[in-house]
Amino acid sequence: VDLGAANTLGLPCRAEHVVEARHRDQVRALARSGIWRDGLTLLSGGSNLILPPRLGGITLRPRLTHWWLETRGEDALVHVGAGVNWHQLVMAMAEQGWWGIENLALIPGQCGAAPVQNIGAYGVELADVLEWVTLVDLDSGELERLSVGECGFGYRESCFKSELDGRVVITELTLRVTRRPRPRLDYGDLAQRVPVNPSPLDVASAVVAVRQEKLPDPAELGNAGSFFKNPVVDASLARSLIEAHPNMPHFPLTDGAVKLAAGWLIDQCGLKGWRQGHFAVHDRQALVLVHLGGGSAEELLDFAAWVADRVDQHFGVVLEREPRVAGSLVN
Ligand code: EPU
Repeated sequence: VDLGAANTLGLPCRAEHVVEARHRDQVRALARSGIWRDGLTLLSGGSNLILPPRLGGITLRPRLTHWWLETRGEDALVHVGAGVNWHQLVMAMAEQGWWGIENLALIPGQCGAAPVQNIGAYGVELADVLEWVTLVDLDSGELERLSVGECGFGYRESCFKSELDGRVVITELTLRVTRRPRPRLDYGDLAQRVPVNPSPLDVASAVVAVRQEKLPDPAELGNAGSFFKNPVVDASLARSLIEAHPNMPHFPLTDGAVKLAAGWLIDQCGLKGWRQGHFAVHDRQALVLVHLGGGSAEELLDFAAWVADRVDQHFGVVLEREPRVAGSLVN
């Protein structure tokens, strides 16, 4: 099966077997059959994934597209299937006047993948609104529930990337939303982009506009959003960098460490818009690498390593990759 259109980077990939699950019982049956032990790749929206040319074993595509609202006075729980498109959920909630996920508008991908990297943007991350995750334990075939506190969430981190990687399939998220106005407008110029007393739809629309100004549309230009995490450095390195570059964006964290903007660091190396082979650094947001067509995963990883190396040489800061590599590249 050709998966070229199933990953937003547009990398060529052929999968041996693709299975679509429309109901959680299909995931449980797959777990109990044990065939996943010969190799299982989860392919959700494919927007944060680097696919190898060939994927052996089974590629599972969660297609659970149910969602329903359990209202409790002014608040509600939204139960949403792993296969629901994240942005469509955000817009449906915002249009109905529910506050909670409006800052996360236009993030590509499906709901089931949202906890894996704890998606976040414009001052909000999934962990702020998530109540629990429902999943199938592949070993037992049983349904389980992990509360938000059990998910090991951090900045672009969760237990689904580490301990539970390859061991569970997320089938549903339960999120908390509310009618009580609670706009979060601290990030960048978001506050200037919305009217006084904004609705959730006003905020979502402003976020959509900001993202469209900077981030390439994967339908037009292959990309996986931010290719690197924003690096966190210790206080002493941060101090010397700020001294040398007084205009460098930096965000002190509670433990004395400082988060830097990887996009700014790459930009300062003169790499914005830089083209090499079939890939480039995006010309409006240096944190995004784009696929110009005709390239491979291996070439992309080489290019990314070269970009990271330039930043390391220039600033002494090590960049960590954000999208995950599926399967094995030596195949
Ligand atoms: N900057 C530059 N040049 C660039 C890019 C950025 O100087 O080419 C500077 C900006 O001027 C700003 C700072 O770097 O001062 C931060 O830039 P921005 O606000 O665009 O956010 P970011 O740190 O580049 C992060 C997330 C995005 C998220 C935005 C908004 C990560 C890895 N990325 O980007 O998430 O949308 O903040 O919250 O944390 C993603 O993960 O795929 C993603 C797009």
